[in-house]
Amino acid sequence: MGMIGGGEGSLIGPVHRMAARLDGLSELVCGAFSSDTAVSVTTGAREGLERSRVYPAWQEMINRESHLPGDVRPHVLTVVTPNHLHYGPAKMALEAGFHVLCDKPLCMSVAEAIDLQETVKRTGRLFCLTHNYTGYPMVKLAREMVLGGEIGPVRKVVVEYFQGWLSSPVEMTGNRQAAWRSDPSRAGIAGAMADIGTHAFNLAELCIRTRSGSPVGGPPFSGARQSP
Ligand SMILES: NC(=O)c1ccc[n+]([C@@H]2O[C@H](COP(=O)([O-])OP(=O)(O)OC[C@H]3O[C@@H](n4cnc5c(N)ncnc54)[C@H](O)[C@@H]3O)[C@@H](O)[C@H]2O)c1
Repeated sequence: MGMIGGGEGSLIGPVHRMAARLDGLSELVCGAFSSDTAVSVTTGAREGLERSRVYPAWQEMINRESHLPGDVRPHVLTVVTPNHLHYGPAKMALEAGFHVLCDKPLCMSVAEAIDLQETVKRTGRLFCLTHNYTGYPMVKLAREMVLGGEIGPVRKVVVEYFQGWLSSPVEMTGNRQAAWRSDPSRAGIAGAMADIGTHAFNLAELCIRTRSGSPVGGPPFSGARQSP
C-alpha cells in the first residue's frame, strides 16, 4: 500500500499502518506523508521506505507510482489527510487504477460524494471508507442481535458519541489536530457532526441495515433516508 498523509505526529495514519501490518498481508511501499517534505522524508525513513518512493506531493506520487510495473506499484492507496484532502487524492488515485482506503468523513460535500461514487463505478476500483469502530466485538455483537431479531422490530435508534477534548479552544495552543478540525475550510461545514457524528451515524446504520441495504423492522423505517 501507499499512504497520503500520516506524517510524524499525526493521529490516524500511524493507526492505519499498524492495523495494516497485523495480518502481515500488506506492505507499505510509498508515501506522500505530509505537505512538509522534510516530515514526509523522516516518516518514510522511519518506515523503512526507499527514499525514491517518498514524495513531496500526493499528485506526484500517484503519477509516478501508476507508471511502475504491476508487481512493484502499490495495489491500494490510503488517504489519511484532513477532510478537505480526501476527495482530490481519492479521485485521482481511482482514476490512476488504484484501490482506495479513505478515512471518514468521506469528503466535504454531497456533490463530491456523488462524483466519487460515479468515479468508483466508472473505474471499477474498490473504495473503502474506514469507520474503525465497526471492527469492535461489542459492535459486531450488537449488529448480530439486532439483525437476528433479538430485540424485535427497530422503531427508534438513539446513538451517542461523547468526546470533550475540543470543548476548550485547544487550537489556540498549537494542537494541530484541533487546528484543522476547528477550521471549516479544512474540516467542512458540518464540524463535529462530520468529525464524530459520522461515527455515530455509521454505528447506527451498521446495526440496523442488512448487507443488501434494507433496514430491519419494516414499515417504521421505510421512509429512512440513507445519506450518501
Ligand atoms: N476513524 C477514526 O477514528 C479517525 C480518528 C482520527 C482521525 N480520523 C480522520 O483521519 C483524517 C486525518 O485526521 P488526523 O487526526 O490523523 O489528522 P492529523 O492532523 O493528525 O494528520 C493529518 C496528516 O495529513 C498530512 N497532510 C496535510 N496536508 C497534506 C498534503 N497536502 N499532502 C500529504 N499529507 C498532508 C499532515 O501533515 C498530517 O500528517 C481526518 O479525515 C479525520 O477525520 C479518523
